[in-house]
This record gives sequence, C-alpha cells and structure tokens, in this order.
Amino acid sequence: MESFDLIVIGGGPGGYLAAERAGHAGLKTMVVEKREFGGVCLNEGCVPSKTFLNSAKVADYANHAANYGVKVEGRAVVDQKFVVERKNSVVKMLVSGVKAALKKNKVVMKSATAFIEGKEQDGYVVRAGEEKFLAKRLIIATGSMPVIPPIEGLKEGVESGFVLTNKEILDLTELPKELVVIGGGVIGLELTSYFSSVGVKVTVVEMLDKIAGPTEKEISSILQKTLEKKGVVFDLGCKVTGIDKDGVVFERNGKVEKVKADKILLSIGRRAVTKDIGLENIGVNLERGAIVTDDKMQTNVANVYAVGDVNGKVMLAHTAYREAEVAVNNILGKKDIMRYNAIPSVIYTNPEVGAVGETEESAKQKGIDVKCVSIPMTYSGRYVAENTDLVGVCKLVINKKTNTLIGAHILGSYAGEFIVAVSAMIDLEVDIENIKKLVFPHPTVCEIVREAIFQA
Ligand code: NAI
Repeated sequence: MESFDLIVIGGGPGGYLAAERAGHAGLKTMVVEKREFGGVCLNEGCVPSKTFLNSAKVADYANHAANYGVKVEGRAVVDQKFVVERKNSVVKMLVSGVKAALKKNKVVMKSATAFIEGKEQDGYVVRAGEEKFLAKRLIIATGSMPVIPPIEGLKEGVESGFVLTNKEILDLTELPKELVVIGGGVIGLELTSYFSSVGVKVTVVEMLDKIAGPTEKEISSILQKTLEKKGVVFDLGCKVTGIDKDGVVFERNGKVEKVKADKILLSIGRRAVTKDIGLENIGVNLERGAIVTDDKMQTNVANVYAVGDVNGKVMLAHTAYREAEVAVNNILGKKDIMRYNAIPSVIYTNPEVGAVGETEESAKQKGIDVKCVSIPMTYSGRYVAENTDLVGVCKLVINKKTNTLIGAHILGSYAGEFIVAVSAMIDLEVDIENIKKLVFPHPTVCEIVREAIFQA
C-alpha cells in the first residue's frame, strides 16, 4: 500500500487548498475527488452563479441606460444559452487553474470515491476506487449537499426535472416563464435577482417573516423592496407543504394556498456530507449530521481533521480556505487557531450585501452593550455619481465598552469587495479612534465606512 503523509478527501475549496498548502510545505499529499476538482463552489455554486449575475447586471444597466444619458433601443434580451456556455468556459478555466496549482505543489490528484476502511498501526486505510492507500493524517473536506426534505411530491419533482437545485438551474438553457423559489435565503435571493433581471416572473415562498435569514433587518427589508420593484412576489411566513403537477403548495396562517410554476428552485439550506465515507470505521464524532471540530480543525480522532461545509460551522468557501490553512498549520506543528467572529459574507444580488460580525439583534442577544449607526449610502460621492436608485445603507455596530467595531452591514455597490476592510478592523480589534485616523481613497463607495464611523 502506498503511504501518504496526508490524504485529503474532497477537492473543493477546503480540500484543494489544504492539499496545496500541505504539498507546498513538503508533505507527501494526495487529494481524492469523486466529481470535479473545485467542488460545488467552482462548478455549481459561487463562481458559476456570479457569471449569471454579471450577465443580469449588464442587462439591468442596459435597461436603465437612459438614467445615465445613454440611449438603448428596446429592451435588453438575455441569450440564456450563451450565458450557460460562458459560465461553462469560466468554470473550465478556473478548474484548470486549481489543478495546475495542485500539480505545481506536487499533490497527487485522484479522481475516485474515497472510503475510510479503518486504522492500522501506520495510519488510516483509505480506499480510492480500486486501490488502497495509507495516510498518516486525514483531512475530511467532503462539503455539503442541498437539503431535500420529505415534502409531498418533492422527490418526484426533483426526479422529473420540475424541481431544480442550484446545480441544475445553472444549466438551464431556456428561461422559464414563472419560477417559484422555495426558500428566501442566500441561494434563493441570488437566483431571484438573476431571473427577475432577465424577465422571468419570480415568486419566493419563505417560511420566516423575513428574507435573507440572519441578515440585519433594515438591509433585508430594503433588499426585499428593491426586488419587489423588479416584479418579484414574496410570500413570507409561508411553509411549503407540497409540490404538485404545476406548482407549489404552501400554508399561510393555517390556510392552504398554491402558486403556479414552470420551474421550481429548491433552496432551503444545505447539509454536511458525512455518509458513505467510512467515518464510523474510525469513530469520528458527529453533531446534527456535521463533523465536530475544535479551533484547530481537529476531530475527536487523532490526526483526523475536518474543514469546510462538512463541519457545519460556517458554510462559506472562504471559511473553508482559512480552516484548511489552520488544519495544515497544525499538522505542520505550527500554532494556529480558527476565529469565526470576523468572517465576511456577501449576497451577490443587485444591489449586493456585504456583512460581517454581529447584527444589532445578535449583539443584544449576547448581552453586549452596543451603539449602532445607520447612514444612507448617499454619503458617498462615488455611490451617488454611479447610481440612480439610491436605496443603499451602511449600518455599523460598535461595542460601547471596548470602543471597537463588532459588526457592519452594507447594502450597495461594491459592498462585497470592501467589506473585508471592516473584517480586518473587527479581527484586529482596532479602536474607533484609530479607525478615524485611517485614510480612505476618495471618491470611493468604501468611504461610507469612514463617514459612518464619524457619524457614530
Ligand atoms: P439558507 O439557509 O440561506 O436559506 C434557506 C431558507 O429556506 C431559510 O430562509 C428557511 O427559512 C427557508 N425554508 C426552509 N424550509 C422551508 C419550507 N418548507 N418552506 C419555505 N421556506 C423554507 O440556505 P440556501 O439559500 O439554500 O443556501 C445554502 C448555503 O449555501 C448557505 O449556508 C449559504 O451560506 C451558502 N451560500 C452562500 C452564498 C454566498 O455567500 N453568497 C451563495 C449561495 C449559497
């Protein structure tokens, strides 16, 4: 049996980066992937959805060009087949980049299904396809998959192609007339933003009384109104109970209602992939279906780590990247721990949301004494110059006791790009008085943070 210092199971962002870093550090490393290297993020999630959303943004601009003194004849029409082809070529390019980086770092890439058979004296036995290997350490990075609950007709709908997940919907070469989105979370909203911009009638059925889950209420409510202006219908406080031949059945205040659909998007959350990989053969602890890890990304089993969605902590590709580095650093004997308090999140709708840290509500729930400030994005010159629908806001949450930022919630152009600056301020616990001394480029949209700090 060939032996490796490290075998990584799963080649998504968590897995491929862990393998890359480990290979770079000189560990004999293999990464096993059963589908495509790059995982969900690169092949059917983050990246492909961004190519879609950029086409929608171009269409939005074209359809509002007159607001900027540019004449465009008629309405912009999206060529969905072209959008899908472009998406495929973007994915292809980035996946080959991932493979090149792995190769450069001397990582063995194995296209197979990995299964942990057990432990021997010299390490863990991993079956990959027909072969068996020995690993001194393991990093489990098997990711997540869409939750498909036992809703009547759902399984049949998925099988027939009437109900799609984020994967299949990104291969639709023909636009549906009426799309019903089940779940008004991140995936639901990003795809709602796309399909409403390209002329599809979209209805979102969401169980909670607000969209965008834990997002700051002020922001999610403006985002909802903006999408409503584009014709999106939100059925909030409505629990989906069934899928029938031509639509979605749901309950509103105990009464059964129905909305018709040509296609349905199911986006009600994702769950960790922990089955059929042999975790039970080495006794890895799970909690609510996800692998339990400590702040070094270690599981309860010696030399076995878990990074990315599979540990169920924060299901974001960039969290997986950092967790991968923490795991590899600990394998290499370097001190490193994972912190989760300043992980930015972005919702790539148009307008986009950039957020990090505590909301006013979550801070209060934790008993933190906070001061909040919320200002319109019109405080930024560049924002006003570049937008005509001036709905954006920037809300900051400040810990009164420490006089440091603990949260920022921004709706507006480029928010997803500059939120990392606020993450750094939170992570490094920079005092508000010191933030005031930082020089921001002018005119930029990110100056909104400086304005809000002074308003506070
Ligand atoms: P989500 O957890 O964000 O939202 C699911 C929504 O479905 C919730 O609002 C929930 O209340 C609702 N729901 C659940 N059951 C329902 C029912 N029977 N009827 C009506 N509504 C129901 O999950 P989502 O959007 O599927 O995303 C999955 C994961 O992917 C998330 O962890 C997210 O962080 C990640 N992701 C991140 C992106 C980003 O960072 N830009 C983009 C896309 C996904």
